[in-house]
Amino acid sequence: MNDKLHPVSRDEFLSAMRQAASPVCVVTTNVDGQRMALTISSFLSVSADPPLVSVCINRNSRMCGAITETGVFGVHLLAHDQAHVADNFAGRPRAGGEPYDFSCVQWAPGEGARREPAMVGVSVSADCTVVSSTDAGTHRLFIAEVKNLVTTERRPLIFWNRVYAFPTHPQDTRSDDPMAAPDPSP
Ligand SMILES: Cc1cc2nc3c(=O)[nH]c(=O)nc-3n(C[C@H](O)[C@H](O)[C@H](O)COP(=O)(O)O)c2cc1C
Repeated sequence: MNDKLHPVSRDEFLSAMRQAASPVCVVTTNVDGQRMALTISSFLSVSADPPLVSVCINRNSRMCGAITETGVFGVHLLAHDQAHVADNFAGRPRAGGEPYDFSCVQWAPGEGARREPAMVGVSVSADCTVVSSTDAGTHRLFIAEVKNLVTTERRPLIFWNRVYAFPTHPQDTRSDDPMAAPDPSP
C-alpha cells in the first residue's frame, strides 16, 4: 500500500481513478439543427428532490461549447451490448466505419417535452436542462435537472480499468442478462 503524503502525479491519479467503475453514457445535443453526441463516463446522480444529475465534459470538446450554448442535453446510459456505440461516439469506430456515425444505433423521435431523440436499446435515457456549471481543471461540470426519463430493464454497460464490463447479480433475472443461466425448460 502506498499511503505517503506527496504531490499526486498525473499517472498516479489516472491509475487510481481507473479503479472507479462508472456507467458508459452518450450525451447528445443539437446546435442549429446539427446533432452532436459524445461518449462519457462522468455521469452521476446528484439529487432526487429536485431530480439532478451531473456530467463532466472536456472543455476542448465541441460538446462542451454546445451544451454551454444550448443549456440542454440528452444522456443515454448504454446497455451491456452497446460497447460499439460507446466506441463510435468516442471517435473510435469499428474497422471501416466512420466515427460519430448516428446510424450505428437506432433512434426514436423525442416525445412530449423531449428535445432529444431517444437512443433505442439503452438502459436509461434522460432529457436534462442545465441549472449550473463550473470549470474544473480541463473539464466543465454541468449540473442539470432531469425533465423527462425513459427507463428500461436493460442491464447497463460499465467501464472499469480501461475495459467495458457489465454487472451481474445472481438474484437479477432480467431477460437480457448476458450471464443468465440458459432456460432449463424444453
Ligand atoms: C468510456 C469512455 C468514457 C469517456 N468519458 C468522458 C467524459 O466523461 N468526459 C469527456 O469529456 N470525455 C470522455 N471520453 C472521451 C470522449 O468520448 C472523446 O475524447 C471524444 O469522443 C473525442 O475523441 P477524439 O478527439 O479522439 O475524436 C470518454 C471516452 C470513453 C471511451
